[in-house]
Amino acid sequence: MDVKSLKRATELAKFFIGTIIKEGDLVVDATMGNGNDTLFLAQTVGKEGSVISFDIQDLAILNTKKLLDKNNINNSKLIQDGHENIDRYISNEICGAMFNLGYLPKGDRNIVTKPETTIVAIDKCLKLLKRNGIITIVIYYGHLGGEDEKEKIIHYVEKLDENKFHVLKVDYINQTKEPPILITIIKK
Ligand SMILES: C[S@@+](CC[C@H](N)C(=O)[O-])C[C@H]1O[C@@H](n2cnc3c(N)ncnc32)[C@H](O)[C@@H]1O
Repeated sequence: MDVKSLKRATELAKFFIGTIIKEGDLVVDATMGNGNDTLFLAQTVGKEGSVISFDIQDLAILNTKKLLDKNNINNSKLIQDGHENIDRYISNEICGAMFNLGYLPKGDRNIVTKPETTIVAIDKCLKLLKRNGIITIVIYYGHLGGEDEKEKIIHYVEKLDENKFHVLKVDYINQTKEPPILITIIKK
């Protein structure tokens, strides 16, 4: 691990999931956005693996497609639909999933993830997750409705059965201005 991985919740999420997923795996980017996590996942699982990515916005699909093309990546399926509908597209076991909540950076700040649909999506991912698989959730909450989403997600993950899941929370506790929180769930 290098210092860059420790400084930002998004990098720490990549570090954690990167220790578990490997070439050939099926993984999910639940919040595609500008495609940074999709690119990371696609490079990690390689040609033999595949990434299925979700976002509700045209712009996210467009930006992610551009980023993948630039990097010659063709193992990723980009789906324009809510992550809460993941079970319409995936029935096989997944090895990992990344959530990065909030609004699309440089996009419309009114289009944000919502607690009700996020929790449905996390719940469905946990059902699809294989043993020792991992889910990372980076919670941004500085925007309108963000605080409510943060509270509801933390409440939901705190209640997950300790016999079935390890749940970690990383909080940059000396930072002001709503630093993102990282939740990591590993299935036992
Ligand atoms: C913080 S951004 C994700 C950033 C992204 N991981 C990246 O690497 O650029 C959150 C994204 O979630 C998307 N989103 C909002 N509601 C969603 C839903 N129900 N299903 C899937 N994506 C959703 C937004 O459109 C936005 O692009």
